[in-house]
Amino acid sequence: MEFVRVSGLEPDQSELFEAWAQVFIDAALADNGESDERSATDLREMERNPDVGRRLMAVVDEGRVVAGASVMFPLQDNLTHSFATIAVLPEFRRRGLGTRLLDWIEEQAREQGRATLQMHFNARPGARPAGFAFAEQCGFSLAQRLVRNDLDLSSWTGADANVPVPEGYRLVAEVGLPPERQADYARFQEAITTDIPLGGLALEPEVWDVERVGALSARLEAMGRTRWLVWAEHEGSGECAGFTEVQWAPDLGPIAYQQDTLVHRDHRGHGLGMALKRVNAAQIAAGQPAIATIRTWNADDNTHMLAVNAALGYVVGSEMLEWQKLLRPAG
Ligand SMILES: CC(C)(COP(=O)(O)OP(=O)(O)OC[C@H]1O[C@@H](n2cnc3c(N)ncnc32)[C@H](O)[C@@H]1OP(=O)(O)O)[C@@H](O)C(=O)NCCC(=O)NCCS
Repeated sequence: MEFVRVSGLEPDQSELFEAWAQVFIDAALADNGESDERSATDLREMERNPDVGRRLMAVVDEGRVVAGASVMFPLQDNLTHSFATIAVLPEFRRRGLGTRLLDWIEEQAREQGRATLQMHFNARPGARPAGFAFAEQCGFSLAQRLVRNDLDLSSWTGADANVPVPEGYRLVAEVGLPPERQADYARFQEAITTDIPLGGLALEPEVWDVERVGALSARLEAMGRTRWLVWAEHEGSGECAGFTEVQWAPDLGPIAYQQDTLVHRDHRGHGLGMALKRVNAAQIAAGQPAIATIRTWNADDNTHMLAVNAALGYVVGSEMLEWQKLLRPAG
């Protein structure tokens, strides 16, 4: 077995990188019969993101990538936090590869001054996949459980429901994020990092500005993503009260992914969260026959958003488990 550093940005490693990305998809398919793992295209664009340091490792056996790992260090905020991914193909498990990859990840994270390491994996409800025992054995604690919900657009009748827009607000459905929305988007990106339930995760508020939003838009465009957003505007003040966003690209197949939904705290309690999501699902259902499902994750204690999803017709599927470990300082 050979441990090889890999990067999606090195032209002579393009085959190795694609095989590295595929290991995560194949491991998920083997464990869960489905995969929400990122494509090589997405991962390559994410590696270009200057806001997050990223190092990747492949384990190669007789020319075949059989395991992979990555470690990420946010560089704009959360400067003592780090994120890990690890996947080992089923037939190569229980030989210590996961442990060796994690040792490498922790070494990198400590070198970068990180005090906490976070990792996640998906599981069927109530299942205890290999990652569960591995995480416990390696000193991680379960910090948060997220519930995955799917809205099946083929049978959805919510678009026809006669639901009034909350009084005093106007909802504006748009495709893409024009420059005049970037400042509000940045403001909401910052708010969401403190407004959503974080369970036991040691995450700190993120720092966003118009430049960072512009760079994100450029990366999403390179990933081939279309973005559907709905904005809530307060008619009295003209203020932006909230937004919601769904993204899709042809390589995601029939599944579009819900991104953030946020209603500013001054405007909560009027049903805007539900209205925003309903209008966005309706604009996608009406014009995008290639999209069959909108998929979203929410913390299991985010009772308000889970209730909104249930009322809209979302159905609960698998869960995502977030694990966290405190790292010993370097040296
Ligand atoms: C979790 C995963 C990375 C472990 O990889 P691995 O190479 O099998 O891990 P190791 O061989 O180093 O296992 C280390 C220890 O973890 C525990 N462990 C790992 N898999 C286990 C399982 N299926 N059942 C019980 N204990 C397990 C054991 O204590 C094991 O030590 P042992 O084999 O001496 O008993 C692998 O199962 C995998 O790729 N799962 C899917 C993706 C995932 O969940 N990744 C982790 C989060 S990102």
